[in-house]
Amino acid sequence: MNILSIEQITKAFGGLVVLDGVNMEVEQGKLYQLIGPNGSGKTTLINVISGLLKPDSGSITFDNHDITQLTPLETFKTGLVRTFQIPQPFTNLTTLENLLTAGSDNSGESFRRAPLQQLWRNDEERIMKKSFELLGMINLLEQQEIQSQNLSGGQLKLLELGKAMMTDTKMILMDEPIAGVNPILAHNIFEMIQKIRDGQGITFLIIEHRLDIALQYADHVFAMDKGKIIAEGDSKEIIKHPKVIESYLGG
Ligand SMILES: Nc1ncnc2c1ncn2[C@@H]1O[C@H](COP(=O)(O)OP(=O)(O)OP(=O)(O)O)[C@@H](O)[C@H]1O
Ligand SMILES: [Mg+2]
Repeated sequence: MNILSIEQITKAFGGLVVLDGVNMEVEQGKLYQLIGPNGSGKTTLINVISGLLKPDSGSITFDNHDITQLTPLETFKTGLVRTFQIPQPFTNLTTLENLLTAGSDNSGESFRRAPLQQLWRNDEERIMKKSFELLGMINLLEQQEIQSQNLSGGQLKLLELGKAMMTDTKMILMDEPIAGVNPILAHNIFEMIQKIRDGQGITFLIIEHRLDIALQYADHVFAMDKGKIIAEGDSKEIIKHPKVIESYLGG
């Protein structure tokens, strides 16, 4: 079943066409990678999918919702979550507190429901339980009390992944989750992502530059150049694809 369909998406900044008729079909529960040289439009595509930017034309359907014109918050509420190229944690909060903050729909925040203390307490318990489950999953149980400004670059990437899963997430868009991370941890992160795919059925679309590490974990790869998908297929096909080789050498 397709969870995400992208049809003929275009986006220009001034005269610069950055997305030039992008089409993509994404099946539920798989790990997709989006590769391409610098400036090919990868981050812009994720910005458009997640609602941060509006496309000039084309349509995006996610889990049977037309999300083309939705705001980032509305998109998020459909279960489509993104992480950023540079992690954006609350640096003065601990790892655990960062997860708790990402937990959704706490009734205590709602003026009308706040007086119903039992409801509030159930939410707190649920969010706390989920946070600890996730801390285990992302291997940060030991760091739960550490302020996030004292986490390593790799641990911050893991925290981003954890935060993305605090809500009823169906799909996660990740922009360079292993950038600047040492190779061992980078492999760990991708192994973790595969486990999450298998365990929770979450679909991933991941931008990554370090093809030597990342490609082996992908179920399917999209290659982009100059705002277009120039090839797609499994990792082995993609690295041999003449257009892909040319796009990297040309850049
Ligand atoms: N807000 C913006 N205003 C103007 N130009 C932009 C804007 N955002 C991106 N661009 C331009 O669009 C092109 C594509 O940028 P984008 O960030 O999507 O590329 P990318 O594939 O993610 O590159 P990288 O691999 O370096 O992260 C670049 O030429 C960039 O300069
Ligand atoms: Mg980018």
